Amino acid sequence: MRFFFRRLGKEHALSILRWRYLPPYDFYNFDINTIQEDLCYLTDPKNAFYAILNVYEELEGYCSFGADGQVPGGDYSTEALDIGMGIRPDLVGQGHGKHYAQAVVKYGANIYRAQKCRVTIAEFNKRAQRVWAQVGFEQIGKFVKTGTEEEFVIMIYEV
Ligand SMILES: CC(C)(COP(=O)(O)OP(=O)(O)OC[C@H]1O[C@@H](n2cnc3c(N)ncnc32)[C@H](O)[C@@H]1OP(=O)(O)O)[C@@H](O)C(=O)NCCC(=O)NCCS
Repeated sequence: MRFFFRRLGKEHALSILRWRYLPPYDFYNFDINTIQEDLCYLTDPKNAFYAILNVYEELEGYCSFGADGQVPGGDYSTEALDIGMGIRPDLVGQGHGKHYAQAVVKYGANIYRAQKCRVTIAEFNKRAQRVWAQVGFEQIGKFVKTGTEEEFVIMIYEV
């Protein structure tokens, strides 16, 4: 599988905002009431969102590099490139997650010259944890998001 990365533009961002995951992954659905704010957030260059495109230039997913991937309450004292990722809902659950994750790590580590990559994942989301473990990430901690009862795990990968 070959993927291409491009800074997230308005059109792709609007598609992503409409994506709908089935429960329990609806946790990752964007809120239809905050489309304008979310659109600004996704397309603001400082948040470093990228479209993941296939060879036909179709949008298959998105990723982010940097602070967007952090969750309040986590320990981010170690220097590492934080990664966030979401794959188009009709493509998930088919065993391809590791291919996207591998491509994202390779691209991010290269453009940011990162020695370590880090992901922060909801504790309930064993599918995502499995994908990152498949590409070599190891869990180094667990915490509760500030102001909530939601548990998250932090996983690290040495490039
Ligand atoms: C997280 C995500 C990238 C995973 O990709 P995916 O293509 O859906 O995952 P896969 O189908 O490759 O499944 C990965 C593994 O998880 C396993 N898995 C699936 N559901 C599972 C569950 N409920 N518990 C444990 N493992 C599970 C699969 O069997 C597979 O393992 P295997 O290769 O050993 O068989 C994708 O689902 C996604 O973008 N989800 C929405 C956003 C999200 O979850 N973000 C989290 C931060 S990355």
